[in-house]
Order: sequence, then structure tokens, then C-alpha cells
Amino acid sequence: MPRIALNFEDGVTRFVECVTNERLVDAAYRARLNIPMDCRDGVCGTCKCHCESGSYDMDSYIDEALTEDEAAQGFVLACQMRPRSDCVVNIPATSALCKSGALTFATQLTDVRRLSDSTIGFTLALEEPDSLSFLPGQYVKVSVPGTEQSRAYSFSSRLNDGRIDFLVRNIPGGLMSTYLSEQATPGDQLTIHGPSGAFYLRDLNRPAMFLAGGTGLAPFLAMLDHLREKGDSTPPIRLLYGVTRDADMVEVGRLEEFAGALPNFTFDVCVADTASTADRKGFVTDHLGPEDFHGGDTDVYLCGPPPMVEAVRKHFDIIGIKPASFHYEKFNASEAA
Ligand SMILES: Cc1cc2nc3c(=O)[nH]c(=O)nc-3n(C[C@H](O)[C@H](O)[C@H](O)COP(=O)(O)OP(=O)(O)OC[C@H]3O[C@@H](n4cnc5c(N)ncnc54)[C@H](O)[C@@H]3O)c2cc1C
Ligand code: FES
Repeated sequence: MPRIALNFEDGVTRFVECVTNERLVDAAYRARLNIPMDCRDGVCGTCKCHCESGSYDMDSYIDEALTEDEAAQGFVLACQMRPRSDCVVNIPATSALCKSGALTFATQLTDVRRLSDSTIGFTLALEEPDSLSFLPGQYVKVSVPGTEQSRAYSFSSRLNDGRIDFLVRNIPGGLMSTYLSEQATPGDQLTIHGPSGAFYLRDLNRPAMFLAGGTGLAPFLAMLDHLREKGDSTPPIRLLYGVTRDADMVEVGRLEEFAGALPNFTFDVCVADTASTADRKGFVTDHLGPEDFHGGDTDVYLCGPPPMVEAVRKHFDIIGIKPASFHYEKFNASEAA
């Protein structure tokens, strides 16, 4: 049964399942999601959205509702689209407008790991293991127990037997950081709210460059976990993982496992600290030249603290690279903080 990820304009993603030969609009309606529509006949164009990946058939419609050019670019009419495989569809409306919204899931903390002085990993088990779906690279808001607050965290694994991992920078005095480093106990009840975010792995049709700063590694671990599970061959993927000090380098064993399982995946780590023993010293930008981007024919994914993301964006201008596609996520501090 095709599973369709509906991405709303406000970053919320909801998943619906289409039974055999079902139109997207009917599947959404069954899930109580009101995609904007009017005629349901392929005439008005109100239900036009963009299908980013997946295969589908279209019933009949008129050119005024969807032009040939638009259809060639992946635009679809939800009232005429019959998904044939899992698809990702962008809906040009907010989730609230579609009488939808992010969902809240009850979870239990099963494990907290001090991966280094600066990094903590933790695992949550969903109370209803099959209730959550997300696109690899997305994030959820995780409640901080004992408070009314939550913090955004990218998944750092795929959903595995109802469990999901996270990778968090330990910020001294930070609300979630203090909970995780001093109070967290397996069995604690946490809620997660989401999933959200436009930073997710698209279909890989050309070489990809993954650029991670610190715990910005998290969404890439989820993407690589997803690729390993799918087992399809991919174009070359290179990950450059930048950290401040040697002690900040975590999950290298997992990266080595991915490199063993995914024939086209390679990675390098660079450390900013000049006293580092790493082969590559300096910032991520010190190790990126035009030759790394196949003349621009590269999909770039970038995630990390805001200054690192900005530095890399500027670096592309300096080295004159305009990647075929460029997706980034900044780990901004929460508004409450
Ligand atoms: C979409 C998204 C996804 C995210 N995913 C992750 C993730 O996977 N892993 C992860 O470690 N973080 C991630 N973050 C950041 C995370 O949401 C928190 O902001 C961070 O963990 C700090 O939370 P805290 O409660 O420990 O500190 P807070 O109590 O929020 O803050 C304590 C102090 O630290 C400052 N501060 C907070 N965050 C930062 C920062 N990033 N850099 C510098 N100073 C900061 C605050 O301004 C405040 O002064 C993500 C943020 C966003 C927006
Ligand atoms: S609702 Fe009018 S074209 Fe789909």
C-alpha cells in the first residue's frame, strides 16, 4: 500500500496510505486531512500540488488546471492522482488550513548514553510502535520532563522496532542538556511532537555531499540508516563531518559501519582545534574545493550550528559553486531559551 508523505507549508508532515488505485484526495480525506480542492474533476486546479518523488498515474484533467509543462515538472492534481509507490507530495497550504497539524506521540526513555563530554545520545520507545512515520532528516519537538518546554531534535536513526535515537550537544546549563546529563532515567515519559522540517533526503540521482557540523551529524545518521535499510545502490555520497575538538568526534564507529554496508559512501572528519591529532585539521570549509562538486552536478545537504551553515553558504560563493540542489538545516537555539 503506497505511503504518501504530505508536506505542508508550515513544515509539518503527515502520512496517508492509499489503498489500491485510490486517488490521493480520497486517501487524505479518509485520514481527515482536507487538502484544498473544489471541483474534484480536474478542472479548477485548486488541488494542485508538487510530487517530489515516487510514481503515480493521473486521471483526466484539462490544461487550464494543469499545463503540460507543470506536469513535466512533477506538479499533480490531488483529485486525479493515483499513487503507485510511496510518494512525497508538497501541499501549498499550511497544515492548519487543511484541518491537520503535527501529532503528539507518547514515548518512554529507554537509554541515555554519554558519548563524549560534549555529546549525549538517547533512545525513545514509542508507546504505539507503528504510530509514527517520518522522512529521514526530519525532526520532532521533544518535551523536557518536569517543564512546560520542548526542544527540537533531528532523528539520528530510522524507526527501528518502535525505537528512535537522538544525538544532542551537551550545553552547560541548557534545559534539555541538564535533564539529559543529570536527571534522565530509563522509564521517564517524554512526548514528541511532529515530525517536521524540509531537510530530508530526496531521491538520489547524482553525487551527494553531506556536510555536518557537530551534532548536525544526527540527520545524516538517519539518512544513512534509511539508505542501508533500503539496500539500493546509490550514486557516490561523501560526508564531511566537522567538529571543534577531538573529544567532540562521536559515532565514528557507526559511520564506518555505513561505509562497509554502502559501497558508494565515504566520509572524512575534520577537527578545528590546531592541537588535534586528526589528519584533517581546520574547518569544513578548509577542505572543500570546486573539484569536490562535479562541476556543480552535486546535491548538497548541510546541517549544523548557524555560524557553520552560514560559513559554508558563503564558501560556495567564494569557490564559485552552485550545486544542483542545496538543502540545509540550522540547529537554532529555541525561542524559549
Ligand atoms: C530544527 C532543529 C533541529 C535540531 N536538532 C538538534 C539535534 O539533533 N541535536 C542537537 O544537539 N541540537 C539540535 N537542535 C538544537 C536544540 O533544539 C536545542 O536548541 C539545544 O539542544 C539546546 O537545548 P538546551 O535545552 O540544552 O539549552 P537551552 O536551555 O535551550 O539553552 C541554554 C543556553 O544555550 C544557548 N544555546 C542553545 N542552543 C544553542 C546552540 N545550538 N548553539 C549555541 N548556543 C545555544 C541558548 O541561547 C541559551 O543561552 C535543533 C534545533 C532545531 C531548530
Ligand atoms: S479539485 Fe479541481 S482540479 Fe482538483
